[in-house]
Amino acid sequence: MKTTHKIHFQNAQKMAETPNNTIDLMVTSPPYPMIEMWDEMFISQNPKIDLALQRGDGPKAFELMNQELDKVWKEVYRVMKPGGIACVNIGDATRTIKDDFALYASHSRIVSAMLALGFSMLPAILWRKQTNAPNKFMGSGMYPPGAYVTLEHEFVLIFRKGGKREFNRDADKQNRRASAYFWEERNQWFSDVWMELKGTRQGLFEKKTRQRSAAFPFELPYRLINMFSVIGDTVLDPFLGIGTTLFAAMGSCRNSVGYEIETGFKEAILSKTDDIVPLANERLLQRLTAHQDFIKDRTENNKPCKHTNHFYGFPVITKQEADLVFQELLSVERGDENTLNATYAPLELDVNAPRSAAKNKKSATASPGSKKKQLKKDGEEKKAVQLSLLD
Ligand SMILES: C[S@@+](CC[C@H](N)C(=O)[O-])C[C@H]1O[C@@H](n2cnc3c(N)ncnc32)[C@H](O)[C@@H]1O
Repeated sequence: MKTTHKIHFQNAQKMAETPNNTIDLMVTSPPYPMIEMWDEMFISQNPKIDLALQRGDGPKAFELMNQELDKVWKEVYRVMKPGGIACVNIGDATRTIKDDFALYASHSRIVSAMLALGFSMLPAILWRKQTNAPNKFMGSGMYPPGAYVTLEHEFVLIFRKGGKREFNRDADKQNRRASAYFWEERNQWFSDVWMELKGTRQGLFEKKTRQRSAAFPFELPYRLINMFSVIGDTVLDPFLGIGTTLFAAMGSCRNSVGYEIETGFKEAILSKTDDIVPLANERLLQRLTAHQDFIKDRTENNKPCKHTNHFYGFPVITKQEADLVFQELLSVERGDENTLNATYAPLELDVNAPRSAAKNKKSATASPGSKKKQLKKDGEEKKAVQLSLLD
């Protein structure tokens, strides 16, 4: 199995290289309107924003910034397939302009824009990001009524273009089954509050680069990609930054297309071919180990696991998990300009077993205990490589 990952270093307001109705999933985080670190970026796209800020007209500046994002959302709608899902990670901003403190609710402005384009909105996720920043308590301290509530969350807004996606051909149905996630992952991932995702640490890049790009943690696009697309799909990130969505798509055996206006990130992204392989596989091993721990706990508590995964031979809770198979990332190579090509094989639990699904089925009859030991051993060896991406 192979996937390709293409980056266009240009403004995503025109994605002419990406044809209509070709993208299965979008996962992105735009520059946040009215967060000062993005002022310059927005002003370079529309100088009137600078005038509005200088005049102290916050609402006008906010609207003009959003109008720049609207041009990208319009293109996103064009390139997405009917039935495709669009996920937008966005935080609101608070800002004092000319002594006037106000909230700029980007999430609601983006919802309006997406609905106007024709997307339907699905239930959203609150990503809780507790902060210990010194400005946590804003306003008049302990005196009512002039203190302000602290913003400690961001949103993951979720939209769909048109109705539910259909899987009609047998091969598509089988691929969907292979792309399943575990029952216990579903319970965690589909909660409308994500508590345990950490901030912006993302170990592929040094801190300075991460801060400059406002990268989200690997786990955020990784989950969304596994929740809302199937193996072999194509994922778009029109605000790619340092490529977290691209690497999460690579680690999930999906193709990806990214747009990024900042050409300075180019070499940083394209030179990560060796680093991403152990990191992506470590996440798969974590998932398998967590599943085996979950099953162990359940068995010890005399709770039944009625089904068995056909590929790995371990118990699962539902029939829908019976054909789930993880794809191990074997290698990533640079292709034509700004392209990375990735190669996969079904992830074996027994590392000594030959790489074939048939053989693997046999090896999957080994005792879950010995497989788990092997998983833990692999995990420990790989820790030396770099684990912080998974934070
Ligand atoms: C919040 S950051 C995205 C960070 C990304 N999620 C990551 O993990 O690295 C927004 C990115 O959008 C880029 N950007 C802003 N406007 C753009 C546009 N019109 N087209 C393409 N990229 C744009 C910025 O340069 C920045 O890297």
